[in-house]
Amino acid sequence: MHNDISEILFTEKQLADRVGEIGAAITRDYADAADEGIILISVLRGAAIFMADLARKIELPLEMDYMAISSYGNGAKSSGVVRILKDLSSQIEGRHVIVAEDILDSGLTLTYLLKNLSSRQPASIEVATLLRKKTLAQAKIDCKYIGFECPDEFIVGYGLDYAERYRNLPYIGILKPEIY
Ligand code: PRP
Ligand code: MN
Ligand code: MG
Repeated sequence: MHNDISEILFTEKQLADRVGEIGAAITRDYADAADEGIILISVLRGAAIFMADLARKIELPLEMDYMAISSYGNGAKSSGVVRILKDLSSQIEGRHVIVAEDILDSGLTLTYLLKNLSSRQPASIEVATLLRKKTLAQAKIDCKYIGFECPDEFIVGYGLDYAERYRNLPYIGILKPEIY
């Protein structure tokens, strides 16, 4: 285990198993929509690893696109302001969109994103989030696919960073408070 991590929350194996289950659920749920095709949208940078693994567990025709938005910068708390750093390359009008996120924390990022993407008139839009923090605010956002509920700690790994570090840890763990 990395020296800056106090506890592993989800091991590499647990993550792989759960991502496999979500992929299987999406494969079942979208079987009839396969003709129109799914577009999987990843929210850079944190969700890139989750989406890469999830995409390979969905056994349907699918496109991948990327949007970069950021609210945290290098801090440990959301700035409250969401910025689009990179927009989609594709048009999503009439398409079945699945947004892949690594974590739903304050909900700011997804609230902004869902509003923004819905205005482009997709045929449908759903969210697959690997992690969801357990608080009241998050319950307002409709996520069809949730990997794990997680405690309100500063967590890193499997795409999640602190000041751009730790994204490459293969597991998800709690960062020691003295680090941030
Ligand atoms: C993190 C995380 C989610 C978002 C969740 O992204 O990857 O996208 O915060 O927090 P919220 O629900 O409070 O909005 P961040 O802004 O750190 O950018 P990154 O993905 O590039 O790390
Ligand atoms: Mn992010
Ligand atoms: Mg971040």
